[in-house]
Amino acid sequence: MESLKGMRAIITGAAQGMGKGIALYLASRGVDVAICDLKKETLEQTADEIRMKTGQKVIARALDITRESDVKGFVKEVLTSFGALDILVNNAGIHPLKPIEEIEGDEWDRVFAVNVKASFYFCKAVLPAMREKKFGRIINISSEAGKNGGTVAALHYAASKGAVLAFVRNLAQQVGADGITVNAIAPGRISTAMSGAVSPEENQKFIDNSITKSLGTPEDIAYAVSYLASREASFVTAETMMVNGGTLRD
Ligand SMILES: NC(=O)c1ccc[n+]([C@@H]2O[C@H](COP(=O)([O-])OP(=O)(O)OC[C@H]3O[C@@H](n4cnc5c(N)ncnc54)[C@H](O)[C@@H]3O)[C@@H](O)[C@H]2O)c1
Repeated sequence: MESLKGMRAIITGAAQGMGKGIALYLASRGVDVAICDLKKETLEQTADEIRMKTGQKVIARALDITRESDVKGFVKEVLTSFGALDILVNNAGIHPLKPIEEIEGDEWDRVFAVNVKASFYFCKAVLPAMREKKFGRIINISSEAGKNGGTVAALHYAASKGAVLAFVRNLAQQVGADGITVNAIAPGRISTAMSGAVSPEENQKFIDNSITKSLGTPEDIAYAVSYLASREASFVTAETMMVNGGTLRD
């Protein structure tokens, strides 16, 4: 596969977990990365780790991706510093695990704001620069729950991840002629803080049901991102790539 070297990426929710794994792997392939997260201290530690391990440029900003003005300011800063942007990974997400009876309207709105609306803010902010360059790779992290409703997922979470799939299929059509692809990745259960909130018994059920007899790792998702971000993936768009150890097959 052609090198990703020289590309520039934004990855949201990259202080820890999958976002960190994606940022670290892209940087190890020669990509300058701009990362953001709510967790300032962890984010800065992650940024230092990426700089130390890869030598790439890293911009790290603590911000809430549901605030459009902060997203616009961040994208502007990244474009000024990097000169251009090739890759956007909308990764940040939240998953308050609870049954419908315990979900209040405010929490429903917050889940959709983080998991869906913030991606709209980021896409809107990066598209002018990508259109100008006639190149762009937008990758949104959905979930197996967005396809099948999930096994342990909360209602608002599953619904928001389903919305991500329609989001990429729609946006892909609006930007494809400008050399920009828009895809989703639907991970199965991945070892991060988020899956750590699920009971060990439920995680074991996932493992038993998988073909690989394992949970996934952030690196498994990072490898999928790096393919979708590559020039070779120019004919892959409006697609949902499942990375799930074979738990959900369709
Ligand atoms: N872990 C899994 O099993 C799994 C499975 C399928 C999909 N996913 C999805 O993968 C993505 C990454 O999840 P993860 O497992 O690494 O979770 P995680 O909780 O470890 O990391 C998510 C990160 O997003 C950040 N974040 C949350 N809200 C934010 C906001 N408003 N502004 C900025 N940053 C914010 C958090 O601070 C955190 O660092 C999420 O979209 C999640 O829904 C996870």
